[in-house]
Amino acid sequence: EAGASRGGVLEGRHVIITSGPTHEPIDPIRYLANRSSGKQGFELATAAAELGARVTLITGPVSLSEPAGVEIVRIKTAAEMLEAVKAALPADIAVFAAAVADWRVETIQTEKIKKSEKTGAPTLSLTENPDILKMIARPGPERPRLVIGFAAETQNVLTHAQAKLKSKRADWIVANDVSPSSGVMGGENNTVHLITASGVESWPEMSKAKVARKLMERAAEQLHAKRTA
Ligand code: CTP
Ligand code: CA
Repeated sequence: EAGASRGGVLEGRHVIITSGPTHEPIDPIRYLANRSSGKQGFELATAAAELGARVTLITGPVSLSEPAGVEIVRIKTAAEMLEAVKAALPADIAVFAAAVADWRVETIQTEKIKKSEKTGAPTLSLTENPDILKMIARPGPERPRLVIGFAAETQNVLTHAQAKLKSKRADWIVANDVSPSSGVMGGENNTVHLITASGVESWPEMSKAKVARKLMERAAEQLHAKRTA
């Protein structure tokens, strides 16, 4: 298989990765979405495959070339992403790098909403999307042994990320500052903090490819430690 290395540290493992934004339709023409290039998620898939894993990459709409040796599942909405993740289980590792839209429009219009001088701007009624990470991290027989979430924050990065580690029952949270001045959104580099039950590890700024490689190597070590413990 292209991209897979025999004898790699993730040989025999299945890794699920979510990536990109989700698009939540308003009408046939319009949607709600988060900003996300999908670069970090695609780099994670590449790194996991290079380390020998079987990789399922579940991605929202992005314009990136497909990593070699990876099974790619293209979805649009959060609901579709959740179904695709469930269908891909079981897995040893699940990494939730997607920027999932937190809300969807309650009633999707089947026809294009027209501008109207009479009614003015429409009001959108929103409803919360399922929290995919939270659902998959719930204890149970299908829970992947290592569940890794991302926390993209614009302020109080560590505090918010630590709260997410607990509330979502993730094993690790990769926190990053995505305020516009950081250049992370859409850029090639990332500066992240790895948050685990034992504390915070701040990594220096590096390429998204290097972040991915380091994270997947750490994940492999963690699985190995758990198995031999
Ligand atoms: N996530 C998810 N499904 C959602 C929302 C978030 O799987 N519906 C995942 C993201 O992929 C990420 C983690 O949860 O790994 C944290 O996402 P984030 O948007 O930072 O957290 P939220 O809980 O949505 O909180 P908020 O947006 O209010 O900061
Ligand atoms: Ca969110």
